Amino acid sequence: MDFDFTRLPPQDRYRLLTNFVGPRPIALVTTRSEAGHNNAAPMSFFNVFSQDPPIVILGIQTRADGNEKDTLVNIRRTQEFCVNMVDMPIAEAMILCGVNFARDVDEPAFAGLETEACRQIDARYLTSTPCAMECRVERIIDYPRRAIILGEVVEMTVRDDCLDAAGRYVNPEVYQPVARLHADNYIVADRQFELKKPDGAAAWEAAQLTPPAEKTT
Ligand SMILES: Cc1cc2nc3c(=O)[nH]c(=O)nc-3n(C[C@H](O)[C@H](O)[C@H](O)COP(=O)(O)O)c2cc1C
Repeated sequence: MDFDFTRLPPQDRYRLLTNFVGPRPIALVTTRSEAGHNNAAPMSFFNVFSQDPPIVILGIQTRADGNEKDTLVNIRRTQEFCVNMVDMPIAEAMILCGVNFARDVDEPAFAGLETEACRQIDARYLTSTPCAMECRVERIIDYPRRAIILGEVVEMTVRDDCLDAAGRYVNPEVYQPVARLHADNYIVADRQFELKKPDGAAAWEAAQLTPPAEKTT
C-alpha cells in the first residue's frame, strides 16, 4: 500500500505515523499554571535530539476545540517545563494525567503521584519518576494547530537505584521505560539485549580513514 501524505487528512497521517514510528518514549510533562497549580500531561511526540546543547523536543497539538492544552499555555508563560520519564509503577498514573482536566486540577495529586520542587525551574517533578529533566524553552516553532517545543535540559534528577554503582550507566534490571506504540498499545523495555559491532568493524572504519593513494597498494 502507498499513501500520498500531501493528500491525506491529518488524522490519517497521525494514525500511520504513530502506528509505524514506535515505540515512542513518553514524557510526563509537569508545569506550573498561572494560579500556581501543578499540571502533568503525557507527551509521546517527544525525544532527545542533542547533548550539546542538551535539547529535548515536544510536539503539542491543540485540543479538538482549537484551544491550547494547559501544558502549552503554561510553557509559553513560564518558558519552563519538566520531563518525567515513565516506568511501569507510574504507567497507570500517567494515563490518568492524560485525561483532559480543567486548568485548575492538580493532575499529579489526582493520580496519586507525590511531587517535589524542581531545583532550577518553577515546577515540580514526580518523586517516583526514574528520571526528571528540568528544561528551559530554547525556542517554540508554531504551526496552525501544533507547537514544536525545543527545551534545553538544565538539571537531571535520577532515582539512585536506576544507575549502576559508578553512577554512569542505567541499571537495565531497574530502569525499564514504558513507551507508546499504536493507539492504546504500550511496551515496556524489559527484554533488552546487546548488539555489538562485529570484531572487524574497527579495522573497516580505520580503512575509510586511509588516504586513497595508500589504499591502492
Ligand atoms: C501516552 C500519551 C501520549 C500523548 N502524547 C501527546 C503528544 O505528544 N502531544 C499532545 O499534544 N498530546 C499528547 N497526548 C494527549 C495529552 O496528554 C492530553 O491531551 C492531555 O489532556 C493534555 O493535558 P493538559 O491540557 O494538562 O496539557 C498524549 C496522551 C497519552 C496518554
